[in-house]
Amino acid sequence: MDSFLIQGGTRLQGEVTISGSKNAVLPIMAATLLTADTCVIRRVPDLSDVRFMCDILKSLGAEVQFEDGTLTIRAALIRGHGDYELIRKMRGSICILGPLLARLRKAHVSLPGGCVIGTRPIDLHLKGIRALGAKLQIQNGYIRATARQLEGTMIFLGGRAGPTVLGTANVMMAATLAEGVTVIESAACEPEVTDLAHFLNSMGARITGIGSPTITITGVKELHGTQHEVIPDRIEAATFACAVAATGGEITIRGARPDHFHAVLDKLIEAGVKIDQRKSGMVVKPTSRLKAVDVTTLPYAGFPTDVQAQIMAFMCVVPGISVITERIFESRFMHVAELARLGADISIEGPSAIVKGGAPLSGAPVMASDLRASAALVIAGMTARGSTKVNRIYHLDRGYERMEEKLRRLGAQIERVEGE
Ligand code: EPZ
Repeated sequence: MDSFLIQGGTRLQGEVTISGSKNAVLPIMAATLLTADTCVIRRVPDLSDVRFMCDILKSLGAEVQFEDGTLTIRAALIRGHGDYELIRKMRGSICILGPLLARLRKAHVSLPGGCVIGTRPIDLHLKGIRALGAKLQIQNGYIRATARQLEGTMIFLGGRAGPTVLGTANVMMAATLAEGVTVIESAACEPEVTDLAHFLNSMGARITGIGSPTITITGVKELHGTQHEVIPDRIEAATFACAVAATGGEITIRGARPDHFHAVLDKLIEAGVKIDQRKSGMVVKPTSRLKAVDVTTLPYAGFPTDVQAQIMAFMCVVPGISVITERIFESRFMHVAELARLGADISIEGPSAIVKGGAPLSGAPVMASDLRASAALVIAGMTARGSTKVNRIYHLDRGYERMEEKLRRLGAQIERVEGE
């Protein structure tokens, strides 16, 4: 398994271009199952999760080409049963359920695994699919869904932690080919769901209320092919902003949409980071007056849970006490123990981590555990004195395109150590 070897203490300087959004492109790839026509998707990041989804679509019978950031997918002749092992390995694959059911009236999909950040239930996905008239059986690790005809209805999709992003995606995709009108109440408003809705409408779907908690889908007979450019990855952009906030220096983030992550930018400004929107991009530069801030993760447009670990790494090097509360997932503090190995002073009180920041970190070998925790360890390693080895960075490769290349171009001393 590959690792990153990082020499800390270097400020970041220069320009970085943001890739397309992983969490937008995965459901959009699933949506191509809704038509027999060809779909062309641009600004697709070359990530292991994207390549996994390509393999899943191929296992269903779709033709898939992925070259130079462009995906061409034609799901002409597809079957409703995917490769168990593939589907089980990547949670995002659950979003093939809705499209398969809508297109074939049946779907045989493996239950997605949980992961280190929580059990990751899919009860809301199943509630929505059942509400549309599907019959569901769960056995031997599979979901078998059948429906003579999906019928539009009103569905409240809010759960104990608020809306569900992929649950909204699944139900919205299934409803595009249902008979009649579907209203999803407590729909997720994340930009990735908005991008999916725009993609579906470009295929001939009739979706209104996009970006709001109430989405209305009027079913149509069939959908056609389309072309689409994926939105930039707001979480990658936020990760780089937290990185330069922690290391010092000044970077220009190109291609990001500030309106997609105002909560993060607002929090960084509160902490003493200067952020200017220029023609060349978003210029991010920590001032000399940094201060600890409190963060609570919330559904969009609140502070995103996917940036919680990264801003914690930043708070480790800022003098003061920062209370970081995780309201979306039940166990998303895997990075705390590893940050402590670098000398961070963090204690956990229920859903909150209390960060006593300011003491300099010192390099050590650390273990990546999930995608965003790994990013936090890279950020901390770049600020720590001495060298830090981040092991199991396959977690990072799932969601960050050529991260070490982008960071090296910004002056970071980081290299990939092949499979140890
Ligand atoms: C998406 O996961 C993202 N993944 C996650 O990003 C992100 O953290 C999450 O949304 C929240 O923003 C992709 O888009 C591929 P949820 P998703 O359903 O849709 C509970 C990353 O790092 N819930 O919005 O699976 C759930 O347990 C990843 O890029 C139910 O209770 O998340 C959680 O507490 C990590 N029942 C909350 O809702 C359900 O049926 C939000 O989960 C579904 C979810």
